[in-house]
Amino acid sequence: MMLKIGIIGGTGGMGKGFALRWCPKHEILVGSRDPHRAEAAAAEYTDAAKQAYGSINGTISGKDNVSVARESDVLILSIQYENIDSVCSELLGTVKDSCIVVSPIVPMVKTETGFEFLPIKEGRPFSHQLVQKYMKNRSRLVSAFHVISEKKLVDPRLALDYDIFVCGDDKESIDTVNGLIGEIKGLRPIFLGSGALAYMAEIATPLLLNAMIKNKLKNPGIKLL
Ligand SMILES: NC(=O)c1ccc[n+]([C@@H]2O[C@H](COP(=O)([O-])OP(=O)(O)OC[C@H]3O[C@@H](n4cnc5c(N)ncnc54)[C@H](OP(=O)(O)O)[C@@H]3O)[C@@H](O)[C@H]2O)c1
Repeated sequence: MMLKIGIIGGTGGMGKGFALRWCPKHEILVGSRDPHRAEAAAAEYTDAAKQAYGSINGTISGKDNVSVARESDVLILSIQYENIDSVCSELLGTVKDSCIVVSPIVPMVKTETGFEFLPIKEGRPFSHQLVQKYMKNRSRLVSAFHVISEKKLVDPRLALDYDIFVCGDDKESIDTVNGLIGEIKGLRPIFLGSGALAYMAEIATPLLLNAMIKNKLKNPGIKLL
């Protein structure tokens, strides 16, 4: 089924990756605070998609974040942890009741110790908890995509072989997100449990980045064997 997939903060690295991976089958709405930036990014991604795939069945267009939130069937929050309060308070009250919201957001900071997890370092809420506060239908939030780097998503020709941890409370929403993960060749969804456990998926990112830096690994990912 063709979905309208909106990407808030779609002009960033992850946003480009999501757009390029799902445009073959879906209608992608690239969101930005600035509609002109969104349109420019959508045009750039469309060119990149044509180069990678030849032709696509879906589309990529760019709009302001507010329009994207209102129109989407699936809304990806591709923004930094620090922006959750301002973005979600403005947008999440306007989404369709059926809209599935996806959080790939990692609450992380780089210090001289390494990459640290803000909920542990500073006692702040984890991303899933914070986003959920602003949702009309809290069960429609799914956390996923924390452990795949934008560098691997942005090139559709790159062969992937990684697992993606998924947390959420509503089976239909989780099934939809699992389906979208499965459409990216080489990615496998691994369900960890309810949204209350999403901090486990979120903390996997600083874990991976510390492993990468201390052991000189190039863009590591996670695969359960
Ligand atoms: N990068 C990765 O490899 C990776 C991997 C896994 C998970 N993640 C997570 O995915 C999320 C997105 O990562 P990213 O690297 O794509 O982020 P990013 O490039 O730093 O930012 C994404 C977008 O956020 C918007 N933005 C910037 N400041 C803002 C503000 N004050 N208010 C509202 N929007 C603002 C910008 O869009 P406009 O200026 O156009 O509005 C920007 O393009 C993050 O939470 C990150 O932790 C990233």
